[in-house]
Amino acid sequence: MSTTAKLPGHPFIAYEGSALHVEGVSLASLAQEHGTPLFVYSKAAMLNALAAYQRGFAGRDAQICYAMKANSSLGVLQVFADAGCGFDIVSGGELMRVVAAGGTPSKIIFSGVGKTRTEMTLGLKAGIGCFNVESEAELDVLSSVALGMGLIAPVSIRVNPNVDPKTHPYISVGLKGSKFGVAHENALRIYQHAALLKGLHVIGIDCHIGSQITTPEPYLDAMDRVLDLVSRIEAAGIPIAHIDFGGGLGINYNDDTPPDADALWQQLLAKIDACGFTGKKLMVEPGRSLVGNAGVCVSEVLYVKPGEQKNFCIIDAAMNDLPRPAMYQAFHAIVPLALTANPAAVYDVVGPVCESGDWIGRDRSLNTVTGDHVAVLSAGAYCMSMASNYNTRGRAAEVLVDGAETHLIRLRETIEDQMRGERCI
Ligand code: LLP
Repeated sequence: MSTTAKLPGHPFIAYEGSALHVEGVSLASLAQEHGTPLFVYSKAAMLNALAAYQRGFAGRDAQICYAMKANSSLGVLQVFADAGCGFDIVSGGELMRVVAAGGTPSKIIFSGVGKTRTEMTLGLKAGIGCFNVESEAELDVLSSVALGMGLIAPVSIRVNPNVDPKTHPYISVGLKGSKFGVAHENALRIYQHAALLKGLHVIGIDCHIGSQITTPEPYLDAMDRVLDLVSRIEAAGIPIAHIDFGGGLGINYNDDTPPDADALWQQLLAKIDACGFTGKKLMVEPGRSLVGNAGVCVSEVLYVKPGEQKNFCIIDAAMNDLPRPAMYQAFHAIVPLALTANPAAVYDVVGPVCESGDWIGRDRSLNTVTGDHVAVLSAGAYCMSMASNYNTRGRAAEVLVDGAETHLIRLRETIEDQMRGERCI
């Protein structure tokens, strides 16, 4: 009789007997069929994560806009488009991806501090739902681009609430001194400026304070600051139809215990209701919390190398595939595809890239030999979308699992793919 052992925080990834599965599919069989490194995603895990937000907003006028920078592969976008989501985009390229995946342009919001005129034009032509504007200068440019096209751009202004999300400094964006949004104390004046511009229609307010947030407090503080502003902006005669509260909810990488989206939103909705804003449309821009723990990266152990101070386990996935440890000293759990009773040793798990920053996990206990496979967990967010070709390594293939079915959603990148746009002199 086979037994199932679930991995904490990964409800759709489990050992069936000794073999690691994503939903109904064994990862060893996928590695054999498609090679490694290989990203594998669970569709059910994505929909399950989405359901927590949907429960949180039940009975409300709300729109969930998947922050696609977390994972912008077309097959992943399709899952969210089919589930009725909108998208939070940050470039013209992301807009083209949403369209290619069958997303609805009117449910797109366009964030980012550096939108070009070309990107604004693309967004206006497509009829996106809202531009989240991040500076006064951007308001002026957007108004003139829209007027030039005979259109009016729907806008919200991103307000920087100056709260500390208590996360890694590179992904903390809502404090004074951050390049994002406009300062809370200048927001009312900037809204008044926007309301006078003929090419703009002010429809909302937005804020996003950071990423991998694991406690409710920063959100609750930021909501107080935003609601206070909404009252003042409306008192100045500028109606605010929607409140967009950004993304940022964390996931369990390493015994992290972020609140569930529905529980968090119960607390936030209570604040909104207490201010008399029950009827306002709500928007959120979750990225990591929808896809992070839906994905793993399967990799082969190339060499086991005992060292004088450390043992190294050299795998075929590297910092170009999994950039988060090198960039943020981030922790990703690493587990074997096949459980065995062999004794374990402690390794630094590293990739083949030629620099010491190319590590995937430090001081990990593994029982492994050359030819074994491991799964790097929590690899659904900010891995493939941040992957590079450093060391002329092709980007990995991707498979989406749906029950017992599998879909190859990205072919492994070939050397011809990599050199396509290049020319010798
Ligand atoms: N909205 C805006 C305006 C954002 O800048 C971001 C993420 C999100 C939504 C989605 O945040 P999430 O729900 O995924 O936390 N590469 C880093 C994370 C960078 C986040 C950038 N902005 C990492 O790997 O941790």
